[in-house]
Amino acid sequence: MPPEAPLGRVQLVGAGPGPADLLTVRAMRAIEGAGALLYDALVHEEVLALAPAACLKIQTGKRAGRPSMNQHTIHRLMLRLTRRGLNVVRLKGGDPSIFGRVGEELDFLRGHGVVAEVIPGVTAACAAAAQAGVPLTHRGAARSVTFATATLENGRARETFRADPAATLAIYMGRDQIAAFSARLIAEGHSPSTPALAVENAGDPAAATVRGTLATLPALLAAEAFDGPVVVLVGEAVRAAERPAGTALVA
Ligand SMILES: C[S@@+](CC[C@H](N)C(=O)[O-])C[C@H]1O[C@@H](n2cnc3c(N)ncnc32)[C@H](O)[C@@H]1O
Repeated sequence: MPPEAPLGRVQLVGAGPGPADLLTVRAMRAIEGAGALLYDALVHEEVLALAPAACLKIQTGKRAGRPSMNQHTIHRLMLRLTRRGLNVVRLKGGDPSIFGRVGEELDFLRGHGVVAEVIPGVTAACAAAAQAGVPLTHRGAARSVTFATATLENGRARETFRADPAATLAIYMGRDQIAAFSARLIAEGHSPSTPALAVENAGDPAAATVRGTLATLPALLAAEAFDGPVVVLVGEAVRAAERPAGTALVA
């Protein structure tokens, strides 16, 4: 028997760092036209409220003590909904291509003949840099940015991050691991005095910012006991936040 023909399509949409006014117009239009919305834990209520009243809304991330849906279930659910003819919006915090498993979802959908499109969003590192008033790259001071995750696999980090004084490191999922992660960077040759900055709830007017160095940030962050999402930026570009107004980062 031939496989069922998918009828609907899927849009994998970046919801940005939180507030609805940091959505792209394209993302907003996709949400407004959604027949079904599958959304992650970090997506704000005001963004979900943009969906039509009749839209089927399904939470896939961890929230209120409930575990997150596994990836296989999310894949099958998207497929089932498209076969019901629904236009599915898969809404992810920030940008779907940054630690958003968009590659796996695209492969699965395309492998099943489903038309899928990615709509980018503002990633947490960009929102944090904007909020703290620092650049991620800076002519003469920072010429590359690495998006890194502080999560470990089987208790161990897989990759090493080359110490490069002219690079910025944006560390995701590091709120509870930053002490171990910083120690590891220092052991790999990063200077303990490298400027470091943590932003909780970046993009939100009530975001909180903590500034220090690679060596001091873990204790400063622990003292804040943040419970919201936190992104950490490390590198000389972040020093811009400490400069007196009107002085240049690079002479
Ligand atoms: C699974 S990753 C998803 C990243 C997302 N795709 C992005 O582009 O921002 C989740 C991590 O992103 C970071 N994050 C997401 N939203 C954030 C926000 N508003 N403020 C600070 N960090 C955020 C945190 O490090 C959090 O643990």
